[in-house]
Amino acid sequence: MEKFIIRGGKPLRGEVAIGGAKNAVVAILPAALLANDKCVIRNIPCISDVAMDIDIIRDIGGAVRLIDRHTLEIDPSGLRDVEVPYELARSMRASYYFLGVLLTKFRHALVSHPGGCNFGDRPMDQHIKCFNALGATCELVKGAYDMSAERLLGTQIYFDKVTVGATINAMLSSVCAEGLTILENAAREPHVVDLANFLNTMGAHIIGAGTDVIKIRGVPQSSLCGVDYTIIPDQIEAGTYMVAAAATRGDVTVTGVIPKHLESITMKLRDVGAKVIEDNEHESVRVIGSDKPYRSTSCITLPHPGFPTDMQPQFTALLTMASGVSMLSEGVFDTRFRYVDELRRLGANIKVDGKTAIITGVERLTSAPTRALDLRAGAALMIAGLCAEGVTEIEEIHHIERGYEDMEVKLRGLGADIKKINRPDKVAAANVV
Ligand code: UD1
Repeated sequence: MEKFIIRGGKPLRGEVAIGGAKNAVVAILPAALLANDKCVIRNIPCISDVAMDIDIIRDIGGAVRLIDRHTLEIDPSGLRDVEVPYELARSMRASYYFLGVLLTKFRHALVSHPGGCNFGDRPMDQHIKCFNALGATCELVKGAYDMSAERLLGTQIYFDKVTVGATINAMLSSVCAEGLTILENAAREPHVVDLANFLNTMGAHIIGAGTDVIKIRGVPQSSLCGVDYTIIPDQIEAGTYMVAAAATRGDVTVTGVIPKHLESITMKLRDVGAKVIEDNEHESVRVIGSDKPYRSTSCITLPHPGFPTDMQPQFTALLTMASGVSMLSEGVFDTRFRYVDELRRLGANIKVDGKTAIITGVERLTSAPTRALDLRAGAALMIAGLCAEGVTEIEEIHHIERGYEDMEVKLRGLGADIKKINRPDKVAAANVV
């Protein structure tokens, strides 16, 4: 069992390079199986969700070759199985993309209900509605979605709720459907656009990604060819370092980003008093922390281009040290405040009322042992630990490593006092006589 040990109080300074977007790569790797030839995918982040995707692809017969640490070659020619078993599907949400891919490829898919972070109710009804509308039947068999279709026929789908996962699955399952599919009230996240660009590079015909109406004209599967593609930068990894820079009152240039994707985060940081300088020409954003206390604010998370729910815990960490009372409302998920108890251990003053956190700023945070309850909750603890007086420990860091490549190495590069250590497993130790 590994954990992070952080001695807080050092302002972050310097440059940090951002990797490829987790939420794009977990859609694009399965999508590469739709090609009739090998794909080379670049700017792959070295995170455990990618390792999990690779395991699934290999398990169903695809071949994955590591060209270098950030480049993979995917060969779909040996693909033979339509089943993604529970042991593999349960560890990440994005395993649901194999439903759309296998349905298109084989007209049959059997994928266990996905795992992922616990934010309360995370239904799949909009995914199923879309598969059904395209002509597939879907039955739940021993916790797995068993779907079949003789033909997939283009159709019109109106999403009852803006959902990234169902929008992506709708694109994956309609890309070769006969005729035109129109998705309305579609998600507009940068990774939705990246997947559409990837599929179009392969030979698909998708227009409108990035708006709330996406039109997909089905193409024959045989016309989807292998391509060489580079994943977009990770908006949330970048946002996390931006907030960490502000929280520690540092001066950090976050490089290899698309500043436009970061606008909602940039605006909120400016709102509380940090200085943010966007440099579109050099694809970077510089965040200069304030030496005065940050101002309180109110904020609600919304689908893109709103403030991202995946930045909510990190921003809460910053607001724990702002002056006055801030209100942060969760507008996407039912329950995304489980982690505040861990921040309270560091001295944060937070009350949760339904879907709103009421954060009364404190002068300082103090260190404590903590644990990451999910991916972004872990990132919030990292930020709080970097600011807290004394030595903060963060356990269960496997959650953080699902979505952040070498986070402690990158933070050390910015001057943080952080190390990763191996905590002896007490049960295993007890068994050693
Ligand atoms: C994706 C991201 C996750 C991010 C979230 C919102 C991936 C792998 N994960 O998750 O990091 O936090 O988008 O930006 O890309 N919903 C339904 N029915 C459905 C599907 C979703 O009611 O069939 C609801 C969800 O419960 C939630 C909202 O729609 O309240 C948005 O969920 P969605 O955008 O689908 O999130 P995920 O794809 O699970």
